[in-house]
Amino acid sequence: MELSSTIAAWYRENARDLPWRRPGFSPWGVLVSEIMLQQTPVARVIPRLEQWLARWPTPDALAADSPAEAVRAWDRLGYPRRALNLHAAATAIAERHDGEVPADVDALLALPGIGDYTARAVACFAFRMPVPVVDVNTRRVIARAVHGQGAAGPARTRPDLAAMAALLPDGDAETAHDVNAGAMELGQTICTARAPECDACPIAELCAWRAAGYPVYDGPLAPR
Ligand code: ADE
Repeated sequence: MELSSTIAAWYRENARDLPWRRPGFSPWGVLVSEIMLQQTPVARVIPRLEQWLARWPTPDALAADSPAEAVRAWDRLGYPRRALNLHAAATAIAERHDGEVPADVDALLALPGIGDYTARAVACFAFRMPVPVVDVNTRRVIARAVHGQGAAGPARTRPDLAAMAALLPDGDAETAHDVNAGAMELGQTICTARAPECDACPIAELCAWRAAGYPVYDGPLAPR
């Protein structure tokens, strides 16, 4: 489909060079990065991620240390419950999976503190599994490009996952990865909530929101 192939091609040319995108970055590193990125911007995550992985390069290493040390190392990233969740996940990976992050959405979901988004993100970004990955940025890109709405409205997990699944090519996991990562990247860098840069957007010509003349979003607001 033109929308997905354009997003994937744009991502291949324009993806930011982020640690978790480098070849050879471990699945454990991807898992730690996704948990850190949930409530913390990329620029603040990077140095802390590097420190974390230097100290605890594997789930076994973290599991062998105490939850209190994990919380102390988390320090100023905020939401320190995430450090406890990561420690609990590392312990379960050590005990149930021989210290290897499982390459399976259901096994990832069964880990303590790992929700649907994180399980999918790890499966796709660490293991190149062609599952839809939908975060708040992806939802906005789909709302605009596909549905012609300015904003995504309240999260609706199943329809959002189905919309993303429909964009993924069959039988081409590498491109599916680039579509997932590319839609997220586009939403973070160009198709932003407040100041979309449509002049720089690779899918502007294909965008239903642009074609409709940028109608203002008047749907339900997200619950607060
Ligand atoms: N935010 C959440 N996951 C991300 C990722 N893998 N890359 C960039 N930003 C993200």
